[in-house]
Amino acid sequence: MIKNETPSSTIEQKVGEEVIQGLTQTQKTLPAKYLYDARGSELFEQICDLPEYYPTRTEAAILRQYAPEIVQITGVCELVELGSGSSTKTRLLLDAYQNLGQSGKYVPIDVSESILQSSALQLQKDYPNLQIEAFVGTYEQALAQFQPTSFPARMIFFLGSSIGNFTPQECDRFLQQVTTVLAPGDYFLIGLDLQKPQPILEAAYNDAQGVTAAFNLNILSHLNWRFQGNFDLNLFTHQAIYNQANAQIEMHLYSQASHSVSLNDLNLDISFQAGESILTEISRKFDLETIQAQLAAKGLNTVRIWTDEQQWFGLILCQA
Ligand code: AVI
Repeated sequence: MIKNETPSSTIEQKVGEEVIQGLTQTQKTLPAKYLYDARGSELFEQICDLPEYYPTRTEAAILRQYAPEIVQITGVCELVELGSGSSTKTRLLLDAYQNLGQSGKYVPIDVSESILQSSALQLQKDYPNLQIEAFVGTYEQALAQFQPTSFPARMIFFLGSSIGNFTPQECDRFLQQVTTVLAPGDYFLIGLDLQKPQPILEAAYNDAQGVTAAFNLNILSHLNWRFQGNFDLNLFTHQAIYNQANAQIEMHLYSQASHSVSLNDLNLDISFQAGESILTEISRKFDLETIQAQLAAKGLNTVRIWTDEQQWFGLILCQA
């Protein structure tokens, strides 16, 4: 049931290089994927339930309300979910597809084998007629291995505004890859966090309970165990800032003192000035018109858009 794409040593090597490259720039950066080790994934689940973090519940409410419409448009199809995680919101779609009375297929894709394994097993129990074929790996690895589907159509979906964590260049490359897997008539459903006033956005990423701070700082623990490092978490503080010009949240870790850190496995020594930061993640916020034009430029034409009353979050269904 689970296909596995084990990262090769070449990929691991590349990962180390990305860390070196990021930490030796003027604005130090780290690849955001290091936020998601087991502890980070757990903290992210907690973030999704925070009162300030509106995206998860807003998207879920939209899906709850409009899943029957989505299903009506697409009919029975092969469902491919990128970054499926625990597949919680997916159930809202699966329930609606189940009501069609024909059995479909669900292909969850995630880098975490343990999460995929447990969620696929649970889903199989709850949806016995659903064909489930999980894939462990990155989006790139997964999208590269798709063959034409035997179902009337395929729908790739990417929820949670995870596309916002890509730079514009990465986003462009990602959409290009998605289109190569879609045959004419296939669908792409995407969840997007929309632009809104700065205080709402900054509160969502600087929560009062400090869960996002713990999530952000955990990236340093992750680097410590992965690369034999000696980051002292007490010397860094979390702050997320909304960059209005680029319409993106930027998560930083600010060094509280001038000091240096070593990552032994990478033969890397890095000096920090007091007040200097590491940029660990961006989270872009979208404007529906602009993103629709970007999708259309890749041959993905909008079929329908659903939003909440406040227009805080949007779901776009497009067709290749
Ligand atoms: C996974 N991703 C869509 C989240 C976001 O909102 O950009 C990650 C996150 N980082 C801090 N809080 C949530």
